[in-house]
Amino acid sequence: MHTIDANGARIPALGLGTWTLEGEGCANLVAHALEVGYRHLDTAAMYANEEAVGDGLRRSGVARDDVFVTTKVWWTDLGADDLRRSAETSLEKLGLDQVDLLLIHWPNPAVPLDETIAALNNARTDGLARHIGVSNFPTKLLAEAIALSDAPLVANQVEHHPYLDQSKVHAACREAGMAMTSYCPLARGGDLFAERVIVEAAGKHGRTPGQIVLRWHLQQDGIVAIPRTTKRERLAENFAIFDFALTDAEMQAISSLGATNMRICDYDFSPSWDSH
Ligand SMILES: NC(=O)c1ccc[n+]([C@@H]2O[C@H](COP(=O)([O-])OP(=O)(O)OC[C@H]3O[C@@H](n4cnc5c(N)ncnc54)[C@H](OP(=O)(O)O)[C@@H]3O)[C@@H](O)[C@H]2O)c1
Repeated sequence: MHTIDANGARIPALGLGTWTLEGEGCANLVAHALEVGYRHLDTAAMYANEEAVGDGLRRSGVARDDVFVTTKVWWTDLGADDLRRSAETSLEKLGLDQVDLLLIHWPNPAVPLDETIAALNNARTDGLARHIGVSNFPTKLLAEAIALSDAPLVANQVEHHPYLDQSKVHAACREAGMAMTSYCPLARGGDLFAERVIVEAAGKHGRTPGQIVLRWHLQQDGIVAIPRTTKRERLAENFAIFDFALTDAEMQAISSLGATNMRICDYDFSPSWDSH
């Protein structure tokens, strides 16, 4: 398994995104993913599926310590007491003593960042999380969070796919020794998979468009990708990306789609994003 070393964390470069997965279906899919070889699960308090993710982990028979589990604290819970309660509830639901990575899901300007970052550090010091990080932090906020944190932040999870150039956030993460985790790594499928550069690379390598896009993520420095699927057969497809390589020309051609500048996850509570 290809892993990313980030400020003391060793993060499996391909994880399973679990947003929208629920109940038995989620538990079965998580268990199957671990059987296929996944060793990284991404959940969040907001996904309301932490019990199912924990069930899937236990059902798989894979040792707890062999799996990297990430959860996140929702942006309405960033006060010190709320963050603590959220992290404790997540552990209870997951049935775990500790997560590998605890993230702030989205920033919240109504709560002082120093209070949130101190609470995140306390969660780590008290053993609720092995590592801490953030999500949806543009470069300016990321720099503030890094400066405020006693323990190094290990990852910034952001929307990233060929239709969205995130080179500024990526450079900031690498400069700080952090991983950048790509969410919506497939841009949710659709039009992207019909792009000529993707289709041509798929033909040349004998791979599917999804595999080409995931390979593009993993061939970049310090990038982790967490694709989601609701289909068992696609778990193996999305995992079979470690035995081929895109050429530099293919990497560049796919990256040039970033000029599209398409952002999928943009809400009224989103921060002010980096310009392109
Ligand atoms: N931090 C945040 O704010 C944030 C925000 C959004 C997402 N996330 C995380 O990132 C994860 C992934 O993002 P996402 O779920 O939004 O989008 P995504 O992984 O880019 O796309 C998922 C979609 O692609 C389809 N798909 C998966 N593999 C495929 C393949 N090989 N060929 C064709 N279609 C395929 C899936 O359909 P099927 O189910 O039919 O396979 C699903 O509709 C989430 O599950 C979540 O864990 C985090």
